[in-house]
Amino acid sequence: MTTLEPAAPAAALTPLASIAPGTLVVHAAAEGRTGPLSVPIHQTTGFAFDDADAIAAAMAGSEGDFVYTRRGNPTVRALERAVAALEGGAAAIASASGMGAMSAVLLSLLRPGDHVLAQKCLYGGTYSVLSDLGRRYGIETSYLDAEHPGEIAAARRPNSRLLLLETIANPTTRVCDLPAPLAAGRAHGLLGVVDNSLASPLLCRPIEHGADVVVHSSTKYLAGHSDVLGGVAVFADRELHRAVWTRAVELGATPDPFAAWLTIRGLQTLAVRMRAHGENAALLAGRLAAHPAVADRLLDGCGGMLSFDLAGGREAGRRFIGAVRLARLALSIGGVETLVTHPASTSHRELGDEQLGAAGIGSGTVRLSVGIEDVEDLWRDLGQALSELV
Ligand SMILES: Cc1ncc(COP(=O)(O)O)c(C=O)c1O
Repeated sequence: MTTLEPAAPAAALTPLASIAPGTLVVHAAAEGRTGPLSVPIHQTTGFAFDDADAIAAAMAGSEGDFVYTRRGNPTVRALERAVAALEGGAAAIASASGMGAMSAVLLSLLRPGDHVLAQKCLYGGTYSVLSDLGRRYGIETSYLDAEHPGEIAAARRPNSRLLLLETIANPTTRVCDLPAPLAAGRAHGLLGVVDNSLASPLLCRPIEHGADVVVHSSTKYLAGHSDVLGGVAVFADRELHRAVWTRAVELGATPDPFAAWLTIRGLQTLAVRMRAHGENAALLAGRLAAHPAVADRLLDGCGGMLSFDLAGGREAGRRFIGAVRLARLALSIGGVETLVTHPASTSHRELGDEQLGAAGIGSGTVRLSVGIEDVEDLWRDLGQALSELV
């Protein structure tokens, strides 16, 4: 069994030397052994003080002081503490969305003229931010195959600052072998930033593999119920956390306390959900691989995400997503319900076949975010949709 040595243990758990992730998710946000079982929702924009010196001292103080909710809030802090503990980080910053967390990290750590190295297949929103930083601030990005860490030395420039990876790439579900590229990046003085949204800390903790920053769209598995947007950035050390926190407060992508509370509530069942997602996905991946409508290439990620290529290409993909009845046609992922999408006709519809291929996506690639429903119901649904294609 994997156990964690949480760098930021929940007060309720400090007597335990090492805690399994499945236990940590249940208790990590709690404030202590006594008091409310559920983290209270501090639905307030600000905090009142007794005198001028006290409020001035709190304003000048660290991120530990609660003055104004954009700077910090006890409910949001409970979420940050929990995700930092789960990822084995020193501290975390929660945001209003995954893109809020990613943008805060990139805008805080990069300066005009810096250079970024990034893996080829990235979530489209991250790709757009990098393109914009290039156009507007001269921050260029070189895309490389993270499976060949040798490419890092070749692509590196004197102004290279940051290496950006995804543990499981969206939408290809390709798994990145993190230790090798992160070690190569570190050897060249690059900060290692890893988007761990699709794996969750239950499957992978990138800081253990050398990452400096881990970014989550908590909209996905951490919250897990398709009802709340959120993001979290976790930092291996407090100095980096402080540097990003200062700017994140200015950028203002702070989560609402109720959104943080919903995320904490979802987080508590992360371990049982990930087990169900993973078991269902593995079973469906095996059956899909044997189906005649599915091409030879099958990209089965770990966790609950899988993608597969339909032999009939773009038109087959479009027909397939229109034919499923139980799986729902939606762009998000990581919720309890199964979601299906066809990147070539939805999220990546602006790319031609050649550009899709460069990102490792086929024109007939279908992405499934496998939920926790009964797997035989899911297979019947996928089977009836596939039968229309052969
Ligand atoms: C890997 C990954 N990172 C970041 C994001 C952005 O997250 P959000 O939609 O919460 O802003 C997503 C959203 O799909 C994603 O899949």
